[in-house]
Amino acid sequence: MTDQRTYLEVKRTVDDRALNRRVLERFVEGLDARSSPVRIVEIGAGIGTMIARLAAWDCLPDEVAYRAVDRDAESVRYARERVPEWLEDAGYAVERLEDDRGGTTLLARSGGQRLEVTLEVADGFEIEDRADAVIASAVLDIVDLERAVPAIEALLEPDGLLYAPITFDGGTTFAPPDPADDRIERRYHHHMDAVRSAGGSRVGRELLWRLPDAGWSVLEAGGSDWVVRPRAEGARAGTETETEMEYPDGERSFLEGLLETIDGALAELETDERESGIGDLEPAERRRWLERRRNELESGELVFVAHNLDVLARPPE
Ligand SMILES: C[S@@+](CC[C@H](N)C(=O)[O-])C[C@H]1O[C@@H](n2cnc3c(N)ncnc32)[C@H](O)[C@@H]1O
Repeated sequence: MTDQRTYLEVKRTVDDRALNRRVLERFVEGLDARSSPVRIVEIGAGIGTMIARLAAWDCLPDEVAYRAVDRDAESVRYARERVPEWLEDAGYAVERLEDDRGGTTLLARSGGQRLEVTLEVADGFEIEDRADAVIASAVLDIVDLERAVPAIEALLEPDGLLYAPITFDGGTTFAPPDPADDRIERRYHHHMDAVRSAGGSRVGRELLWRLPDAGWSVLEAGGSDWVVRPRAEGARAGTETETEMEYPDGERSFLEGLLETIDGALAELETDERESGIGDLEPAERRRWLERRRNELESGELVFVAHNLDVLARPPE
């Protein structure tokens, strides 16, 4: 069983490869143009990998106040342990300041850079603040947009920025091909759209019309597909040496977590009357598909691609 923390940790390298560099560059330019300290609020920050990434990739302006919130207390506890190490790996000296209410502030310095990070448990759409930028990474596809968009607008300065990378946009594909793939994908997306309490399978493209409809300007958008595939270990060109296929950086457990999620969603659909109209899939066929995918994962043959979009937008004036 892959827990949420492990899943988010191994997701980091998958996201690193996927993030759309054009959208990220425009976001970084936007941050650089703000006056110091630049106030960033991250909603649904999980275990804090975005903070670590922006620091490691030198994407942050000289002076930043970064408020990271997640409603999952376990993820925030994990972030409080791991973010200091990750910032140190990125070359920062980190001081940990605890407040009386059990909150944690990290004061991280590197050369002329000062980064203050607070990590807290909260519903990101209920907090009050004023921010130059709001980040919601892999979040807007699992929440109610009707509630999220106005809440983000209320947090942002009028010329602030919403950066919403890794927003799922309706593509879940595996290779090698299997006859049940299309039905599995259709059902998995149907579960997101009709059974899960919020979110949807095409939120990436939905942002591209919903935000302008609500008076926002979409400044930049682009694909950020996840591609997870095994690589040859110890392969040497031109030799007959047998090579082991292995997933990089623990990404095997990312795929294990994902197969579990898909199977859980499909099993739920089988007991749910809302499944009508999305084609037949017998429980035995679902189990066969899952077993095949798990075996391919074990033997290093499974390839996975998911379609996401990164969006950078400015709230209405
Ligand atoms: C798929 S995870 C992404 C985590 C992180 N952004 C990342 O990319 O690794 C979605 C996160 O959003 C959080 N979340 C969902 N709704 C939230 C809300 N209303 N307020 C705060 N966090 C929320 C979940 O607890 C979860 O940690």
